Amino acid sequence: MAMESKRLALEKLYKDNFQPEEYLSTYYRNLDPEVEFFLRNLHHFFFVSNGGEKSSATTSVSEGLEKQVEREADEDEKVAKKKEKRVKEKRRVLEIGSGPVPISMISASSWSEWIVCSDFLEQNRQTIKHWLTMTAVTLAPGRHEVETWLPFFRYVAELERAESEAILLDRVRHSVRAVVPCNVLLTDPLMDNKDTACNADGHSLYDVIITTLCLEFATLTVEEYSTAVANVTRLLRPGGFLIVQGALENSHYWHNNQEFPSVVLNRAIVESALADAGCQTVDWKELARCCPQQEKPADHSAVFYCLARKI
Ligand SMILES: C[S@@+](CC[C@H](N)C(=O)[O-])C[C@H]1O[C@@H](n2cnc3c(N)ncnc32)[C@H](O)[C@@H]1O
Repeated sequence: MAMESKRLALEKLYKDNFQPEEYLSTYYRNLDPEVEFFLRNLHHFFFVSNGGEKSSATTSVSEGLEKQVEREADEDEKVAKKKEKRVKEKRRVLEIGSGPVPISMISASSWSEWIVCSDFLEQNRQTIKHWLTMTAVTLAPGRHEVETWLPFFRYVAELERAESEAILLDRVRHSVRAVVPCNVLLTDPLMDNKDTACNADGHSLYDVIITTLCLEFATLTVEEYSTAVANVTRLLRPGGFLIVQGALENSHYWHNNQEFPSVVLNRAIVESALADAGCQTVDWKELARCCPQQEKPADHSAVFYCLARKI
């Protein structure tokens, strides 16, 4: 099959067969160690190292909190809070390929009040939009959506030492400003959707872009993967951070009785794609596969977190 028809076939596979509810009930049935790994790294980037403003290698949670407390003691609390809110409103975060999954925004919303989610599929965007509109009143006991995400929010609440996961649920719902279409194969993955994707200042470049388990599944070859990385990087401001999380040595995953292909990644491929896109790798972490094949029907050997900075 020529490349163009393979690409159209992949798009059709996603449009016709990706079912948000079923995807969640397979891959997000539990909070497993691989998802904990992703959440912990995002927590570290946004909450501990303050979006890369402090060195993540040298700052511990307690140091971060102590310094924050010291700073706040020096200022009138109300003024400090207003200032913090203004700063959080100015920072822009974009997630590429959110799928039906709202958990990357948990830590991002500690740093920014302007988060945009995006996905290729209408059904995934609708799932996120629906979840965002749910309030405490609509959370009837036994509702699938509630049961799915509470443990994930609780996990991050514990990392932040927050009073409760409910605070973080509200924080995410307050901070996500738009859920927009994207296609990482396009030179402009957000398709010039500036009305919803830019903030009040009218800027459309982002300070931080997160993408988890998307680029290797949206593409068919290493070359296409590199093109997708370059396309996404175009949406980042110089000096901004790109967080790429994904699966290593993975060739496919099963979903809805269909085999969804993946570009087989290793560290060298990811770092080379980032370098070609004008980014410098700042941090790389890996976790060897912990989930049995029956629980996660994919053939990855590990998951990874890569933090890169656009030069
Ligand atoms: C394996 S799912 C990952 C979803 C979610 N990020 C997660 O961590 O579970 C792959 C996602 O890539 C999206 N996708 C597929 N093709 C894409 C494309 N060309 N551009 C952007 N996203 C795409 C799908 O809609 C789907 O949400």
